Amino acid sequence: MPPLRATAIAHPNIALIKYWGNRDDALRLPAAGSLSVNLAELETVTTVEFDAALTDDMVTVDGSAQADAVCQRVSAHLDLVRNQAGLKLRARVCSRNNFPMSAGLASSASAFAALTLAGAQAAGLSLTPQALSALARRGSGSACRSIPGGFVEWEAGSEDRDSFAFSIAPPQHWALVDVIALVSRSPKAVGSAEGHTLARTSPLHAAYLASAPGRLQRCRAALLNRDFALLADAVEADSNLMHAVMMTSAPPLFYWEPDTLRVMKAVRAWREAGLAVCYTVDAGPNVHCLCPTGAAAEVARRLSADLGVSQVLTATPGGGARLTDTPID
Ligand code: DP6
Repeated sequence: MPPLRATAIAHPNIALIKYWGNRDDALRLPAAGSLSVNLAELETVTTVEFDAALTDDMVTVDGSAQADAVCQRVSAHLDLVRNQAGLKLRARVCSRNNFPMSAGLASSASAFAALTLAGAQAAGLSLTPQALSALARRGSGSACRSIPGGFVEWEAGSEDRDSFAFSIAPPQHWALVDVIALVSRSPKAVGSAEGHTLARTSPLHAAYLASAPGRLQRCRAALLNRDFALLADAVEADSNLMHAVMMTSAPPLFYWEPDTLRVMKAVRAWREAGLAVCYTVDAGPNVHCLCPTGAAAEVARRLSADLGVSQVLTATPGGGARLTDTPID
């Protein structure tokens, strides 16, 4: 008999080289590889409990019962777990985040990583780290990168089984800090699932993909050699190009707010004046300012005092998804 109940913790990750666009939307097979780092201070904790008394899956996030669209996406993911485990029971899913959802802070990554690990454990599945990462990918592409720890690469792969993420360096490899300028807390209008399907409508998408392996290679080398100048160059180029694809798809997607651009320009000016910092922006308006630990306090101070950013979060490289004995109720 499987344990039927399990709880897992996962961190969101910030992509240094982004995932934007799929080769296969249904399987979430990406069009290119990506690189990320997990964010230790931000976390999702999820309990999955399979229960014979339930007729439907029930999903609660941060104390609120979720709308149909969220429940359906979670149920579809649990179906993959149930099919692999030969289990028919419905589940109660209870999840908590210590950061705002759907605001470009990658809550779907930590959400589906925690759901996958808790669901697989509760259903009695015994999966390799690679199989667990590939399974998390089916729920949300970037979730596969929240299964391993530290600095993580997701190789695009060619089919379901070989498209998974793995750690290229542990969290303590490089004391980088992500100083996050929260310029807006409102949920984004167009989610990334829909955005990925639009990527191919941009005339820039082909150029983005053709140049992606080179950027990934430069970024990987920068990380492994702790070369901040090279990292800044690759990370900003990749973020800019992804947003160029977004802005030129049909319909176009504009995730930046005026404050997003203001922070991006300030970060470049600060770097030119000698402060080691660079930016990257996901599918939302908030700006992730990456810097070595020594620069973090000054970056946070300038964001608040000079630019008037009302909320600044700080996160350091984090570990992978893990089980815990403390359930969410
Ligand atoms: C801009 O993994 O959230 O954050 O698979 O549809 O859930 P779904 O998409 P998701 O896309 C992430 C997009 C991104 C870039 C990245 O994290 O690589």
